[in-house]
Amino acid sequence: MSERASARRQVLELIPKDAVGAEIGVHLGDFSAQILKVACPRALHLIDPWLYLPQSAYRSSWYGGLRHNQQEMDER
Ligand SMILES: C[S@@+](CC[C@H](N)C(=O)[O-])C[C@H]1O[C@@H](n2cnc3c(N)ncnc32)[C@H](O)[C@@H]1O
Repeated sequence: MSERASARRQVLELIPKDAVGAEIGVHLGDFSAQILKVACPRALHLIDPWLYLPQSAYRSSWYGGLRHNQQEMDER
């Protein structure tokens, strides 16, 4: 496990079990699955516009640039 993944897991272990929470910015849901597995929330609200942003400021983001488009976001 990478140092980053380990740090993220440690944060999840601090969350009380059976809590109600939200992940703002879900992307493909990989971290959502980890939250469910480690934090065992009673409810987890997943919030994401899954909106493609064509502006150059988002060129390197996971939801902009030439590699992505709105159809891909809709499929997510
Ligand atoms: C870098 S990903 C993070 C995914 C996940 N939380 C993780 O840690 O692996 C950022 C996500 O935030 C979403 N996003 C961007 N702007 C947002 C906003 N204003 N409100 C909610 N989600 C947003 C994007 O669509 C993208 O799926």
